[in-house]
Amino acid sequence: MSIQRVGIVGAGTMGNGIAHVFARCGFDVVLCDVDQRFLDRALGTITKNLDREAGKNKITVADKDSALARIQPATDRGKLANCDFVVEAATEKFEIKTEIFRDLDRLTRPEIILASNTSSISITKLAAITKRPDKVIGMHFFNPVPVMKLVEVIRGLATSQETFDSVRDLSLKLEKTPVEVNDAPGFVSNRVLMPLLNEAMYAVMEGIATPEAVDEVFKLGMAHPMGPLTLADFIGLDVCLDIMRVMHSGLGDPKYRPCPLLIKMVDAGWLGRKSGRGFYKY
Ligand SMILES: NC(=O)c1ccc[n+]([C@@H]2O[C@H](COP(=O)([O-])OP(=O)(O)OC[C@H]3O[C@@H](n4cnc5c(N)ncnc54)[C@H](O)[C@@H]3O)[C@@H](O)[C@H]2O)c1
Repeated sequence: MSIQRVGIVGAGTMGNGIAHVFARCGFDVVLCDVDQRFLDRALGTITKNLDREAGKNKITVADKDSALARIQPATDRGKLANCDFVVEAATEKFEIKTEIFRDLDRLTRPEIILASNTSSISITKLAAITKRPDKVIGMHFFNPVPVMKLVEVIRGLATSQETFDSVRDLSLKLEKTPVEVNDAPGFVSNRVLMPLLNEAMYAVMEGIATPEAVDEVFKLGMAHPMGPLTLADFIGLDVCLDIMRVMHSGLGDPKYRPCPLLIKMVDAGWLGRKSGRGFYKY
């Protein structure tokens, strides 16, 4: 089935990046969130990021204008009814995603694929909520979406080969590199990355080093482009906590226990870069 009109649910850090990439690659986008102010913020960010690409001559000013014109913001999820593909990028909470998938299954044509950008939640469980488990799949983009090349494509237990092939081809059309993984808490990327970030937080909590020192160790000693605490702030500390909790409960191993300092910071509303304060001040 040809895909032209794409629905995106959630217009936060990831949703706005996903909308940017689809629109820049010629797709029509319906970008959905629960409140107009989140949509306004997302369109502001997309405009700024497209401007940056035009400034670097990666796209023309006309490309930027036509990409923006292809994005239709919506608080009414009913506008997704005539989409040919939907990717969910809402808050990393199972109850929120459950409600969205149930609604998308009711709203959209039965043959269309419903993808989730979840970082850790079971694709198999999300699929089981719908009447089309063979058409549910993980399409895990990386932050910042317009820059990062990887899409982790996650097969749920019931995901069909046809669905997988469509999402692989779609990722290539977005000029991304798809990598196939199977469904398990945290998939591959976060199963390996999050314990590193969590352990870096323990090092700070236990007074072993400052956030700056921990980050320097990884930048200078391991050639990481960004230290683990800067990266955690960039991802969002609430997102990191949600992912650790999914892995802790899903894998049942105490080694995934979220760092108490992370829990405390999220309780304080210190969510990293997006809230102006995390391990660093912004
Ligand atoms: N932040 C990252 O680096 C990153 C990377 C890869 C994947 N993800 C995943 O992407 C998803 C979104 O993360 P984010 O960082 O963009 O979060 P975010 O907090 O920046 O944005 C989430 C958005 O979802 C919206 N939302 C919440 N409930 C909704 C609903 N019922 N309907 C429509 N919109 C709703 C919120 O209003 C918010 O705008 C999560 O599943 C997360 O795990 C995040």
